[in-house]
Amino acid sequence: MGYVECHSHLLPFVDDGVKTKEQALRVLHAYKDAGFSIVVTTPHLYNPLVVTHVDNIRTMYRWLEGEGKKLGIRVVLGSETFVGSASHPKNLPFLGNFVLVEVDTSVEPLYLLNYAYTLIKSGHFVILAHIERYDWFSEKSLVVKRLVEMGVFFQSNCDAVLSGTVDSYLNKRMIDIIAGDNHGDDTLPARLAASLQKHPEVLQRMERLFETE
Ligand SMILES: [Fe+2]
Repeated sequence: MGYVECHSHLLPFVDDGVKTKEQALRVLHAYKDAGFSIVVTTPHLYNPLVVTHVDNIRTMYRWLEGEGKKLGIRVVLGSETFVGSASHPKNLPFLGNFVLVEVDTSVEPLYLLNYAYTLIKSGHFVILAHIERYDWFSEKSLVVKRLVEMGVFFQSNCDAVLSGTVDSYLNKRMIDIIAGDNHGDDTLPARLAASLQKHPEVLQRMERLFETE
């Protein structure tokens, strides 16, 4: 079994990720070359800074899924759902009910507690995307403590891992998942593989979570 990428924007004409089918194929080939067997593509939903053409999601996903099959890569559809204060946003669970969420970078997201709790109670696993982006994220944060108690998983992007930005969290085993958050970069899969090699404890945790041991 190969590596799993669980955060990427690889559907053309959908969000701020890949722009063309050719670019999507280049990136998919790069995942294959770097040793990945599963790539979850997670279009933005409800992000106030990104326009998402939700009508294109299914068509583009079916196309990319077919291209993945030709390469021996399982392409899975999920979403990266922005959880804001005033809505009950939809999500697309992937790989056995994982839900990827993102929140505002500057305001401590008290509303995430309720959203995550409801999801977990109904049998989902919640992943908080790129924790390094959030100004409010710290071990002292009551929201972070509560998310840990609830069993929310924390994801860091591979570039933050490779640059050492999240070393303190890695040392305290607070990072459950490393992902690419790939928006169309065909050099990123190799960096993601390198970051997983550098942190075998995270790789093992991911293999257990996604049942790819
Ligand atoms: Fe993302």
